[in-house]
Amino acid sequence: DLNPAALMRQTLLGMSRNDQLRQVIEKAPVSRDVVHRFVGGASTDEVLRVAGELVDTHRLVTVDYLGEDTLDPVMAEHTRDAYVDVLGAMSGAGLTQDGTVEVSLKLSALGQALGRDGNRIALDNARTICQAAANAGTTVTLDMEDHTTTDQTLSVLHDLRQDWPWVGAVLQSYLYRTEQDCRDLSGEGSRVRLCKGTYKEPESVAFQDKADVDRSYVRCLKVLMEGQGYPMIATHDPRLVEIATVLADKAERSEDSFEFQMLLGIRPEEQLRLAASGARMRVYVPYGDEWYGYLMRRMAERPANLGFFLRGLATR
Ligand code: FDA
Repeated sequence: DLNPAALMRQTLLGMSRNDQLRQVIEKAPVSRDVVHRFVGGASTDEVLRVAGELVDTHRLVTVDYLGEDTLDPVMAEHTRDAYVDVLGAMSGAGLTQDGTVEVSLKLSALGQALGRDGNRIALDNARTICQAAANAGTTVTLDMEDHTTTDQTLSVLHDLRQDWPWVGAVLQSYLYRTEQDCRDLSGEGSRVRLCKGTYKEPESVAFQDKADVDRSYVRCLKVLMEGQGYPMIATHDPRLVEIATVLADKAERSEDSFEFQMLLGIRPEEQLRLAASGARMRVYVPYGDEWYGYLMRRMAERPANLGFFLRGLATR
């Protein structure tokens, strides 16, 4: 592909999975401003403060403890414990009632990639977190990673929903399979976060052209809005936000029967506008030290973010 924007995106997504580069860049003296625009701090105390500020400005929150592709069972347990800790802290601060602050998990950070037992280990760790969320009166949503993990993640979702029907899933409109997955997950009580998808995926499984990904997003939105579940519209795309509003009206949905979601630091003024309009608006807040993969995917999505990041490196 000779299109420079596509080439840049592919290169950055390749870099996001490069472990040596990760070690160099995570240790580089990156300006705190750069990381802090997109990451809600390193510790439980810091993310507690960021979440509190968002809630004070009428936004809901989902918190993600950064980490992915763990190949060490001890790290997977550490991640599990970090979630239990942050849920306890948010609950203690009165932030979790009715799902005001919930959590998002990556199964690969909880052990999914640990060989043959990986799925069971990730499921056990996720169960502990779901129980902690239930105690705090809030919910859990499973992030979706690359397409090789989609079936496993949906199978873990199915198991968790037997005990906690409020566990949510993320579906990615760039995958050909997703419209059908939306149908399968559009029943009563089903929470689905619809996004475009952020991994480097082959043509055999995913639309490559942005316009096709957007068209698929609209088809998926229709299915979810017309269904009985709770759609979570995760995009910064103004056109898709507008279309979602129209489709919600058409399906005669009340304002509390779906929500918009955006990432920390991206279009904050639009987040405030939607919240002020009476819509439910949730901000995804990642925190912790392992910000490399997350930040590289944000760079791949928007070269302007890359400039911001490089300037931050250069000004140290
Ligand atoms: P896209 O990047 O195509 O941008 C469309 C338009 O939005 C732009 O043309 C511009 O108008 C506007 N815009 C975007 N960024 C902007 C900025 N910085 N400033 C101003 N305008 C901007 N992915 C995944 O694979 N698995 C997952 O589990 C998740 N989880 C997730 C949760 C939540 C809450 C969100 C919001 C996103 C995810 N994602 C994700 C990421 C998602 O797949 C996608 O990569 C990003 O959201 C970027 O895609 P957009 O829909 O924002 O559109």
